Parts: sequence; structure tokens; C-alpha cells
Amino acid sequence: MTLMATTGMAHAEDVEVLHWWTSGGEASALNVLKDGLAADGIGWIDMPVAGGGGESAMTTLRARVTSGDAPTAVQMLGYDIQDWAEEGKLANLDAVAAEEGWDAVVPAALQAFSKYDGHWVAAPVNVHSTNWVWANKAVLDELGIAQPATWEEFVAAMQAVKDSGRIALAHGGQAWQDATMFDGIVLSVGGVDFYKKAFIELDSEALGSEQTVEAFNRMATLRSFADDNFSGRDWNLASAMVINGDAAFQIMGDWAKGEFLNAGKVPGTDFLCFRLPGTQGDVSFNSDQFAMFAQTDTAAQAAQAEMARAIMSPGFQSAFNVVKGSVPARTDVPNDAFDACGKQGMVELAEASANGTLVGSIAHGHANRAAVKNAIYDVVTAHFNGEYDAATATKELVNAVEAAQ
Ligand code: BGC
Repeated sequence: MTLMATTGMAHAEDVEVLHWWTSGGEASALNVLKDGLAADGIGWIDMPVAGGGGESAMTTLRARVTSGDAPTAVQMLGYDIQDWAEEGKLANLDAVAAEEGWDAVVPAALQAFSKYDGHWVAAPVNVHSTNWVWANKAVLDELGIAQPATWEEFVAAMQAVKDSGRIALAHGGQAWQDATMFDGIVLSVGGVDFYKKAFIELDSEALGSEQTVEAFNRMATLRSFADDNFSGRDWNLASAMVINGDAAFQIMGDWAKGEFLNAGKVPGTDFLCFRLPGTQGDVSFNSDQFAMFAQTDTAAQAAQAEMARAIMSPGFQSAFNVVKGSVPARTDVPNDAFDACGKQGMVELAEASANGTLVGSIAHGHANRAAVKNAIYDVVTAHFNGEYDAATATKELVNAVEAAQ
């Protein structure tokens, strides 16, 4: 944890921003935001707390709020926003939302998290999605491997890479990364109906079914294609393995694309992006939003409103998301500036939204409140690390989810 400046040094027109964008690609995207705010006369006090899914950031946030020193603006996901709003800690953004017409341009799936009790409490900066695979094109070409379209083809492709002596799957063994792969794996086994029933409605029968056993079996298959040093590895180091050709594939949200772009790589030429085989048409999403912690100082409130306005402007949404790997959180942003993966992501998001195949990410706080999310993390990770077989993991999952509600 780094605290770059104390609030005592802050000016009212500064915002202190708590976030977990600490990788190379994330830092580039963050600079787009910092520069945009600087152009509007808003200063930046940085409060980075690394760790995908924001678990560590949320722990730091809790401590800050408890000691009466909440940051002005906080990167937040899904149900965490709702929890903080329920505690009455978040600023009301209705005025800026009305002036800027957010209601008409932010997709309903996002508004469900940005609004609490009918009031805007967060500004969505992007839409990410977790059921993506990132592949090194040269490695696949060299081995004569075509882009896999089914789970079976994906397994065969990973086997061919492994047989060649290379690492098939770049993975970082951290609970949130295991869970991120699990999002797509659940979809690949049972599609959106099963995903919703078991992991959003938390129906015990669906959760305890053979489909969950199969999802754990697939997770074990994935583990067999990771290298021996996967434990504890950061996600961006796993991305670097694919970027450098040390590994063929990574299953990761589209923030991974930010790492490829940051390394000067071009989609279609150097790397491939495709949906986890067996989940084409489905999108498991997470949206980074900025929630503003309620302030009494009017200049601080004005800076928060300005930040929210800046984040939601169409120009910023394009410039930021082109670098971040995500797609805009508004439906009216042109796709011209986006690369092929970004254009694909935008089309698939709109289609999934229209077809009912858009689901909130389990791993990134868009399927359940934190207690349930963390219960799922624990079991998925314990299984991934060989503590349970698939049948035991399924039983443990049912118990843990029931206990967490
Ligand atoms: C966030 C992304 C971030 C990723 C890895 C996710 O939870 O939504 O913005 O890039 O974690 O840090």
C-alpha cells in the first residue's frame, strides 16, 4: 500500500483516487484519466492498492472509511457499490447525471449497479468482460494450431502446445484469477441458463449438480496445462508470458489486451482474442465505476461532480477504453478508434444484451455480494490447488454459498 500524499496537503479541487490499476497497461489507461482531469483543473492524489477484483483495495477502503478518512473517488465493482450506498456513504450524482443525460446512454445492466434506490451513486468508466482467451499468434502458427472453437478443440490445442515443450496456459495462481477463469468455464459447461440459476440465483440444486462437477473437472484440466510456477504469479506477468511467446494462451478479462497494446503488439498480427471456446455469444461482464464518497466541503463536491462528468464524456470513454482493453459504458460512443478486439467486444456486448446472454461476472463482483463472492473464491481456489476433487468441491461450494447468505 502506498499513500502518495496526505489529505492535509490536498486542495479542494484535488481528488484522491483509490484504485487497483497498477500494471503497465493499466497505468497507461490511468494516465488518460489523470491527464483528462488535469485539463479540467482537477488535481490527482494517487492511492493505488494492487490486486484484480479489488479485494485488497476494498480492505484498504474499509480501514480508511472506519478512521473517518474516506478517499474522494474510488474504483468499485458491482455489488460493492450497492453495499457502500446502503451504508449511506456515497455522494448523490443525480444532478450531473441529469445534466449529462446518463439515463439515456448507460445500458440497463450497468445502471443496476450505478444507481441505488433510484439515485446515481457511481459513474461507470467501462465494460470489461472475463470470458476471453488471449493467444500468441506466432506460437500457434508455428505449431499449425487453428483458433479453437469448442472446448474439446481448445483442450487439443493446449495438448499440442504442451507436447511441443512450451507452456500451454499462462496462469497466475491467485484466488481472483482462478475465479476469473471459472466465470468462462461455468458458461462453457452450462450456458447462461445454468450460470444464472446456479451462480446468480444461487439455486442449491443447480449449484450442486453434475454441471458444477464438470466445471471443476474443466478447471483441473486447465491446471494441468499451466506451468509449475503458476502459484502467486500476477496476472500481468502471465500476460507477458503470452506476449513473449513463452506460453500460448491466457484466459483473462480484456484488461489483458491493455498489456499486449502496451507492449506494442497488434491484434490479428501478434495476438488473437477470442471467446473461451464454448461460450461464443455469451458475455460475462464487469464494469469499473467510480463511486464518490460524500463530502461536506462544497469545492470537493464540485471536483467530484467534474470528475464524474469527465469520466462520462464520449470522448473520454473512447480514449480511455481504447487503451484499457475494455469497451465504453455508454451505447453512443463510435467504434472508429477501437482495434479489432475492441470492435468485436462492442458488437458482442450489444448482442448479448439484446439476446439475454449478458451475465455479471462471478469473480468481479457482478453476480453476488462480497460474502458469497469470497465463499466461491475459497472453494474454487482450494480445488484448483488440489485440496478437493471435483465432487467434493461441488459439495463444499453448496455449503459455503449457503453459509455466506
Ligand atoms: C478490474 C479491471 C482491472 C483488473 C486487473 C478487474 O477487477 O475491473 O479494471 O484491470 O481487475 O487489475
